[in-house]
Amino acid sequence: MDLVNKTEKTFALTTPLYYVNDVPHIGSAYTTMAADVLARFHRLLGHKVLLITGTDEHGQKIQRSAESLGKAPQEFCDQIVPSFIRLWQLLNIQFDRFSRTSAPRHEAIVKEFFQRVWEKGDIYQGQQKGWYCVSCEEFKEERELLEGRRCPIHTNKEVEWRDEQNYFFRLSSYQAQLEEFYQARPDFIQPESRRNEVLSFVSQGLQDFSISRVNVDWGFPVPVDPNHTLYVWFDALLAYVTALLEPDAEPTLANALKNWWPINLHLIGKDILRFHAVYWPAMLMSAGLPLPQQVFGHGFLTKDGQKMGKSQGNTLDPIGLVQGYGSDAVRYYFLKEIEFGKDGDFNEVRFINVLNADLANDLGNLLNRTLNMVKKYCTDHGLSIANEAINDENPLKAMGLHLGEKVKQAYEALAFNQACEATLVLVRTSNKFIDEQAPWTLYKQGKQQEVEIVLYAVLESVRLAAYLLSPVIPNISSAIYQQLGFGVDFNDQITTATLTPFATHSQWGLLTNQQILGQPQPVFKRIESLKNH
Ligand code: MSP
Repeated sequence: MDLVNKTEKTFALTTPLYYVNDVPHIGSAYTTMAADVLARFHRLLGHKVLLITGTDEHGQKIQRSAESLGKAPQEFCDQIVPSFIRLWQLLNIQFDRFSRTSAPRHEAIVKEFFQRVWEKGDIYQGQQKGWYCVSCEEFKEERELLEGRRCPIHTNKEVEWRDEQNYFFRLSSYQAQLEEFYQARPDFIQPESRRNEVLSFVSQGLQDFSISRVNVDWGFPVPVDPNHTLYVWFDALLAYVTALLEPDAEPTLANALKNWWPINLHLIGKDILRFHAVYWPAMLMSAGLPLPQQVFGHGFLTKDGQKMGKSQGNTLDPIGLVQGYGSDAVRYYFLKEIEFGKDGDFNEVRFINVLNADLANDLGNLLNRTLNMVKKYCTDHGLSIANEAINDENPLKAMGLHLGEKVKQAYEALAFNQACEATLVLVRTSNKFIDEQAPWTLYKQGKQQEVEIVLYAVLESVRLAAYLLSPVIPNISSAIYQQLGFGVDFNDQITTATLTPFATHSQWGLLTNQQILGQPQPVFKRIESLKNH
């Protein structure tokens, strides 16, 4: 079957499909914000983008959460799912598909996929004995467990003993093929530290894993044996494929894989790396399908230096945060302050300091005072000069000429903090430049041309910074662009791609002397104190 018909300029990416045992937490928000930033960056490049998110609804964990509230699992899931959608709206996430694993069309895809793997001879029945963490929905090796048989990830949860008949997937048969694949495609697992983790895990020898359960009702029945339900992870990974179906398409693998497969990027947290970097490619190899291009495992968030968790009582409510400070602020902090791939900390005082320093003072004030100076020192027509009047040695122009490419490379490498930091260097240099050049003095000395050169260089730098930061802070960037006389809303996907092509707008020197500058208005209000949330 020819399942792949992919054109070059597409970019499909996924967030994990989040468990609905509870409302979303900041960990889920973190991956989703990063995915949205990357999706927006690719749209700026003119790529056709598909951002997939969704929810993982089957399995024992969800079944138990529903039972504890006396609800049927489907009803329980239906009640939790809107809280995810609401949070994504609040965080200004532009997702294209929301994949729910309990959807009937997903069952059709799972069945067809199971059949291919079954026919390949990679599924057999066996006895599963071992320690199971319901919160991870994963068997654990005895040696991995903490004292008191607690899970190393869910440290307050004891693992449970299982001894039951299950269907198994022949992961062990794919050891050599996987190892060859990792060698041939060194970029498949990123960052490098995660790749090494996987290589070392695989080199210890892969064991078959069970893909069915007999004591869990909440799942799809195993197509060849309705006494079993499918293991939640087998079904969940496939929901990435189901998400690719056009809304009204018949749910077949051929239809799902026709336009967007293979997916370019799976963004995940480090705890679910094995599923994505080992189990998933092996399942796809078994089904004879091409493999995704990349899996990127980011780090974990801590709060005030402590691991975040309900039992520690220090979870961070993403809804409260975004309602208190706005979506741009939350997106900026997590993307700029944390190296993607490494663990990172949230501390509210630092959060406020960073936002005030970068967005209110350095960026916002710079625009505001420069626009006011244009009003004061120039004619009603605004600036009378443009890029040609600025020589290449001008420190802002010299920096700005290379910035677009540098930031592009940073986004492409998922180095969001570097993309932001490199842009902020231009903003900080602009502040220094305007203070040193003192256009107010130049004006008094009657040096009109020099005044305008300073003001142009600064405004153009602010414009460039706004453009390059627009995937992270689309609202602020839109406000800046509007005050600079561009009728652009970076939240409007269609006009952004056509009105602000990356090749033009990422270059220094775009402002003209025809620019009709708007009224100066604060783009980000200084945060005076902690918000109660
Ligand atoms: N349902 C599975 C994913 C299936 S994908 C086919 C799952 N869901 S989850 O809701 O438990 O976790 C979703 C994501 O949140 C994971 O990538 C996980 O790494 C991330 N995080 C959970 N807590 C986190 C932090 N404290 N910090 C950062 N991310 C963390 O796993």
